[in-house]
Amino acid sequence: MTQTESVPAVNDTPLVPIEKIVALCKRRGFVYPNSEIYGGVAGIYDFGPLGVEFRNNIRRYWWWSMVQTHDNVVGIEGANITHPRVWEASGHVENFVDRLVDCKKCKRRWRVDHLPPENLEQNKCPNCGGELTEPRKFNLLMETYLGVVEGDRMKTYLRGEACQNIYLDYDNVLKSSRMQIPFGICQIGKAYRNEVTPGNFLFRQREFEQWDLQFFVHPSEMQKWFDYWKAYRFEWYKSIINHKDRLHFREHGPDELAHYAKQAFDIEYRTVLDWQEWEGIHWRQDWDLSRHSQYSGQDLSYSDPATGERYIPWIVETSGGVDRTFLNLLLDAYEEEPDPAGKEPRTVLHLHPMLAPVKVAVFPLQKNKEELVSTAKGIHKHLQRLMVSQYDDIGNIGRRYRRQDEIGTPYCVTVDFQSLEDQTVTVRERDKMTQERIAIDALPMYLLDRVTWK
Ligand code: GAP
Repeated sequence: MTQTESVPAVNDTPLVPIEKIVALCKRRGFVYPNSEIYGGVAGIYDFGPLGVEFRNNIRRYWWWSMVQTHDNVVGIEGANITHPRVWEASGHVENFVDRLVDCKKCKRRWRVDHLPPENLEQNKCPNCGGELTEPRKFNLLMETYLGVVEGDRMKTYLRGEACQNIYLDYDNVLKSSRMQIPFGICQIGKAYRNEVTPGNFLFRQREFEQWDLQFFVHPSEMQKWFDYWKAYRFEWYKSIINHKDRLHFREHGPDELAHYAKQAFDIEYRTVLDWQEWEGIHWRQDWDLSRHSQYSGQDLSYSDPATGERYIPWIVETSGGVDRTFLNLLLDAYEEEPDPAGKEPRTVLHLHPMLAPVKVAVFPLQKNKEELVSTAKGIHKHLQRLMVSQYDDIGNIGRRYRRQDEIGTPYCVTVDFQSLEDQTVTVRERDKMTQERIAIDALPMYLLDRVTWK
C-alpha cells in the first residue's frame, strides 16, 4: 500500500469518548498509568505489550516514509540531555512559558490562553464566576542536575522539544554524510514539559515523544519546500485514518506563533476534544542556526559548493507527536457495531493493517483435536518469523474473533478439518468479516502483501 492509498472509509460513527479508549487500553495492555501502585503521576504513562507493538509500527511507518524513501533526508538519534546553553540559545529559558491565573474563590487554576474570551475580558472564573488573580508565568522546561558533588552540580534541562539535537548535530551530519542543501534531518525522540494542565490521557503529557523533520534550504527556496512538506505531511495523516473529513489545516494567528516561527500551520484532527493540533508545520527561517552560531561561537553558515555563496540555511520544520498519533488513531479506529443477533455489540478497531499491533491470529477449529492443534501451531510458528502472530485456542471461534477485533488484528486464520485434507485454511478479514480459503503455502505472501507498507 503506498502512502496515498488508504484504508477504506468506514461508515461515519459518533465521536468516541476518551474514557472508552482509556478502558480498552488498560484492559488489553496498550497503555497503563505510570507508577500506578503508588497512585500514579499526572501526565506520565507506560506502554504495555500491545501498545509497544502499535507504537513501533507507527514509528517505523513514519521513518520509512520520511527517511528511507527520501534521498535527501537522513536520520539521527540525540540524547535527552544537552548543554544548558542550548536552551538559552533556543529561546526556551526566556519564552517557553504558560501564563496562569488562579480563581480566588474555587482555587482552580487556568491557562490564560485556554480561557473563554468573555472570562478573560471580565476576569471571571469559568467554573464558579469568582475573581481571577493576575497572570503569573511558569516555565515549562524540566530541570535536572548533572554531577554528584553538591556545589559542582550543573543545572540543565530535559529537552523541551526534541528537535534541538538536530541543530546541534547539523554541522556533523553535513561533514560526515554527503548531504548538500536542500536536505533534511529526521529524529524521533522524547520531549519533556512541565505542563501545568496535563490531561486527556495521552493528549497532553509531561513526558512524550515527538517526530521531527528539519529541512535545510536556501532562503529563495523556502516557500517551495514549505509547501511541499506541508502537503506531504497532510497526505501522510490522511493515509492512515478512516475519517478523512476530520482532518484539516489551521493557520496560526500572529499572536499565537511560537517564538521561533514566522509562519505556522497545524494539521488538526477532530475528536471529542474538538479540533486539536496533531502536527505543526513551522517556518523557522534562520532562527535556530543563527542563535546557535551566536551562543556557541561556531559558524554554522553553509558554503554552497557550486556557487561559493555562504549563508545561514533556513528551516522548514514538521513536528508531530507519536503519542498524539497513538491516541488519535485509536479514537479514529474504535467502533462498537451492533450485533444483528442482538447479543453484545462487536467492539472493533479499524486500524490500518500495517499499523495494527497484531497482524494475524491462528486458531485450530477445536482444541481437543491433536492434528488441528499441531497444524495451527506450525502455521503460527512460521508466520511469527515474518510478523506479529498470536495463537489462540481458548473459547469458541466467535469469542476468539471478538478478542482479535477489539485489538484491531486484521486477519484471523482457522485450521479446520478440510485443512487436513487439502492444505488450505480459512482467512477471515476484520472489517467486512469476509472469509476466503487460502492454500497454507500461499498464506505468508497473502498476508505480507496486506500488512506491510510498500
Ligand atoms: N519543535 C516544535 C515543537 O515542539 P510543538 O507544537 O510544541 O512544536 C509538536 O510540538 C507536537 O508534539 C505537537 O503537534 C503534538 O503532537 C506533540 N506534543 C506537544 N506537546 C505535547 C504534550 N504535552 N503531550 C503530548 N504530545 C505533545
